[in-house]
Amino acid sequence: MHRIGFIGCGNMGRAMVQGIVAQGLAAPSDIVVSARTQATLDAVRESFGVDTTLDNAEACRASTVFLAVKPQMYESVIAEVKPHLAENTVLVSIAPGKSLAWLAEQSGVRKIVRLMPNTPAAVGEGMTSVVVGEACEQADIDEVLAIVNSFGKSEIIPEHLIDAASAAAGCSPAFVYMFIESMADAAVLEGMPRAQAYRFASQAVLGAAKMVQESGMHPGALKDAVCSPGGTTIEGVRALEQRGMRSAVMEALAATVAKAQRL
Ligand SMILES: NC(=O)c1ccc[n+]([C@@H]2O[C@H](COP(=O)([O-])OP(=O)(O)OC[C@H]3O[C@@H](n4cnc5c(N)ncnc54)[C@H](OP(=O)(O)O)[C@@H]3O)[C@@H](O)[C@H]2O)c1
Repeated sequence: MHRIGFIGCGNMGRAMVQGIVAQGLAAPSDIVVSARTQATLDAVRESFGVDTTLDNAEACRASTVFLAVKPQMYESVIAEVKPHLAENTVLVSIAPGKSLAWLAEQSGVRKIVRLMPNTPAAVGEGMTSVVVGEACEQADIDEVLAIVNSFGKSEIIPEHLIDAASAAAGCSPAFVYMFIESMADAAVLEGMPRAQAYRFASQAVLGAAKMVQESGMHPGALKDAVCSPGGTTIEGVRALEQRGMRSAVMEALAATVAKAQRL
């Protein structure tokens, strides 16, 4: 594995660095991270032992450079580092709304990969969509896949699906946390201690997700299997349907896609 650079190390950059280091894919000394403030760098260095710098150019001295700043910062940060990106650098974008064509035009770099990771990367359970630019060679693709697979699962997708993939995996952890929080609130309402309520609700979500992945059954059939005739669960299903749960979730994902297309 060659040197990996990260420009920006907030929620997402940190999750990826944490995943890479925890899985031992790269030695901490082979990872160089830049950020805007020394406080962020001190925290990252203390947690992961990686090299840190306030100089974004320094983070470009790597074979693979991740741009882990907010989408609004992309234009100015790319303009700043453009002179420091080598001919053969693989530039990795993790921002919504920035196309391969736009990234190539702004950076002048040939080899570009668009990723949409998610924060569960921090615990090795990320789901990353990967869009590979035309100029990338198989070795570049293999290296990026090795990195993203070190912190979870990944799939290569065509560029036109990236907003859908972002909605389904990049943004959706936030919605799942809201679901877990509201289930725990309900349990607390019934008298369960808060910490215990989070353990119950989160393990139920983890288990249900595994059932979808490992049973090969349709999610609707799995739902049916929990609903005994005349039982308690079907009463809850009715309450969720009355409040438009599935429509609310679809609208939420559609809103993220619409926003990505405006960025
Ligand atoms: N959060 C997610 O779940 C998620 C999921 C998928 C994709 N993404 C994408 O990941 C990217 C980063 O998002 P985030 O949530 O990690 O944002 P964030 O927590 O706000 O982190 C942004 C990082 O960029 C650094 N930064 C800001 N200006 C900089 C500059 N001029 N030069 C170098 N570093 C600079 C910040 O440094 P300081 O800490 O020193 O201020 C911070 O470390 C975004 O494009 C986002 O769309 C995020």
